[in-house]
Amino acid sequence: MAGKDFKVTPWEVSGEVDYDRIIKDFGIQKIDEVLLNRIKKYTKDIHYTLRRKIFFAHRDFNLLLDKYEKGEKFFLYTGRAPSGMVHLGHLVPWMFTKWLQDKFNCDLWFQFPDEEKFLFKEKLTLEDTEKYLKENMLDVIALGFDPKKTKFLIDTLHAKLLYKQAVRVAKKITFSTVKATFGFGGETNIGAIFYTAMQAVPAFLPSVLTGRNIPCLVPLGFDQDPHFRISRDVIVKLGYYNPAIIHCRFMPSLQGPGKMSASIVESGIYTTDDPKTVEMKIKKHAFSGGQPTIEEHRKKGGNPDIDSCYQILNYLEPDDKKVTKIYNDYKSGKLLTGKLKEITIEFINKFLKEHQKKREQARKLVDKYIYKD
Ligand code: TRP
Repeated sequence: MAGKDFKVTPWEVSGEVDYDRIIKDFGIQKIDEVLLNRIKKYTKDIHYTLRRKIFFAHRDFNLLLDKYEKGEKFFLYTGRAPSGMVHLGHLVPWMFTKWLQDKFNCDLWFQFPDEEKFLFKEKLTLEDTEKYLKENMLDVIALGFDPKKTKFLIDTLHAKLLYKQAVRVAKKITFSTVKATFGFGGETNIGAIFYTAMQAVPAFLPSVLTGRNIPCLVPLGFDQDPHFRISRDVIVKLGYYNPAIIHCRFMPSLQGPGKMSASIVESGIYTTDDPKTVEMKIKKHAFSGGQPTIEEHRKKGGNPDIDSCYQILNYLEPDDKKVTKIYNDYKSGKLLTGKLKEITIEFINKFLKEHQKKREQARKLVDKYIYKD
């Protein structure tokens, strides 16, 4: 879909996204206080991404909780199509997923569709996606998911298991539907047309494997919603529960409004960036909401809402007090752009030092996470 100044497909998000418009056009529900309080009954605290409306919308979360109340445990499902290195923005929904796993003590099925970006990006080879798959798995493991409760599905490796279910989905989705949903046409390759079926499978695979219906919750970047908009009905027709969905916003790119894209190098900070690179990227590329001169900034104050450094902190620093103080000080003009950049560089480098340590330790653990059929 496209708005006046933005465009959203599962393969491209550009411009400044109007999230209210998204809620209306996608037909999804806003996460309101009533739902947050309901979640809190089970989790005791509320993750900062929920508090800050970074996770902002859902489909059928209430129904999932109805089932949970009746004693039906759910599993989590999310994924990552390897197409490049992981950047900070990617980690946000995954960290939330890890919180859900801990709070609800549930299984997570994590799909790595290593054919997806090969099919959708002209230049990407299967050797590239394989290389990125290996790298991307390390970032997911580094976040600390429970190895006993987390199962990685890799499309080309688990093809036998997935394909058999994917054809059941594919048979119930017409070309007209995907054409209308994704804007496909005569030039679209047939792999891309089939792909949605592969992404649908993990949402009901555990039910297939156990022979009983298990509810599913899918945390995702909101651009992935169309895949499920199409396949949810089909999953129900096949006799399984409709998966619940919870939608995450995108961390804005360094250059200001717009998604942090993995394919434009300057637009993001990779999890493997060293401290010098982080410093350079923030100093050189981070879009500032500050005023052109210090005098003016002190007088009029800055605009944290469009400031990339503030946004990075908002998406990654769990401490509300710290983030609110920075917001207020920047807005009032007390905090200058140079200082905010310094704070952000220090924050990211500390965060990445820890992440990179765990990322290295993850190398020995990969095999534990890959699903064994
Ligand atoms: N298509 C997603 C991507 O481009 C990967 C993915 C697969 C996914 N299954 C998912 C994302 C389920 C969210 C939920 O990265």
